[in-house]
Parts: sequence; structure tokens; C-alpha cells
Amino acid sequence: MNKNFQFISFEGIEGCGKSTQAKKLYEYFLSKQIDCLLTREPGGCLASEKIRAILLDEEIDKLSPTSELLLNFAGRVEHVEKVIKPALKSGKIVICDRFVDSTFAYQGSAMGIASEIIEKIQKIAIGEFLPDITFFINVSVEDAFARISARGNNNRYEKLGNEFHQKVYAGFFELAKKNSRINIVDGTQNQQQVFQKILNIINQN
Ligand SMILES: Nc1ncnc2c1ncn2[C@@H]1O[C@H](COP(=O)(O)OP(=O)(O)OP(=O)(O)O)[C@@H](O)[C@H]1O
Ligand SMILES: [Mg+2]
Repeated sequence: MNKNFQFISFEGIEGCGKSTQAKKLYEYFLSKQIDCLLTREPGGCLASEKIRAILLDEEIDKLSPTSELLLNFAGRVEHVEKVIKPALKSGKIVICDRFVDSTFAYQGSAMGIASEIIEKIQKIAIGEFLPDITFFINVSVEDAFARISARGNNNRYEKLGNEFHQKVYAGFFELAKKNSRINIVDGTQNQQQVFQKILNIINQN
């Protein structure tokens, strides 16, 4: 395995299987005695989890896209500085369930904030800091939502309609086209098959 992949993120629409695959990869590393941290965004430390609670609160009907953008980056600053960077420094692999690409897909492609604006805030918040490799788990909105309705307990984003999520989905594709860091993984097969593809990519490089 290439140790250059120290910071790994999972991206994709709601219900595509990010958390499932992130956990599988975490357990895989642990089974190989590789020190590893599994974390998530929004969230990942106390302050950022509190921000997550606001972002996902079902009682909040709507937040302005700008508020969402800034809240996401405020949480990300705390998470990166207090959790991710120290873990990387201590030699751990860090697996993050969503990271900056989600901000471009949700607040950018779906909510309409120009990517140049997001890039400016990104620069202020985290500079050039990015994952070494990102997996975009590709599952259609229809298939992902079938999974979510089976799972129950929907958050605020899951209640936004099909059109919103189609834009998020298209946004991830656009990002993958522009960034070689992002690997598109077909997420429609069973969990173990999807995981094998992820492992192949990690072990190939
Ligand atoms: N490859 C798969 N095939 C079928 N079902 C799957 C697969 N991977 C995950 N699931 C199921 O789909 C649901 C959503 O998976 P998961 O929670 O991992 O998605 P997610 O991308 O983390 O979603 P969210 O963005 O809402 O956190 C879960 O019930 C999970 O068990
Ligand atoms: Mg999840």
C-alpha cells in the first residue's frame, strides 16, 4: 500500500454508501495493524459536531446558502486543525466521511454559490490542505433514496427533493472530472464488491 494516501475522503450523495465503505476501510487498516482514525464532516470534533447539529436540524426550515457555506467551513477549520492534522502528524491514516468536495456539490452546484467564492473561503479556511485521495461512490439518486427510505430517520437534506439531489450528483461528477484526486467508484454492487474496488485502487497506487 502506498503510504502517500494518508488522508482519504469518501464523497457522494446521501445513501450512496460512504459511511459503510469508510468503516470497512477503517476496519481493514486496523486488521493490518495500521494506525487509523475514522472521522466525518460536518463534525469530527466537539465544536464541529455542534455545527453539524445546526446544519442537519429538521426544525430549521431553510438556511441561507451563505450561512451553510460558512458554517461548513467553520466546522472544517476546527476539525482540520484540532483533529485531522494532529492525527496525520502522529502517523495515522485519516479516513473522512465527506470533506470539502461536499461543500462544492451541495452549497455550490445544488445551492448556487459560485465555485470561485467557495474557493476563496476554502483558501482562507484550510489553504491548500486536501485529501490525498477521494472516493466518489457513484449511486444514482433513485437507488440511493431507495436505500435511505429503507434506513428511515431522514435529516434536513434528505427531505430536499429529487431535483436538488440530481444537482448534487452532477456536481460530484464535475468535480471528479476536474480533479485526478477523485476516483469514481461504482457503488451499485454489493458492499463487499464496492469495497474490493476501493482496495484495488489503494493498493494499485
Ligand atoms: N453496496 C450497497 N448495496 C446496498 N445497500 C447498501 C450498500 N452500501 C450501503 N448500503 C445501505 O444503504 C444505506 C445507506 O448507506 P450509508 O449509510 O453507508 O450511506 P451514506 O452515503 O453514508 O449516507 P448518508 O449521506 O445519509 O450518511 C444503509 O442502510 C446501508 O446499509
Ligand atoms: Mg453516512
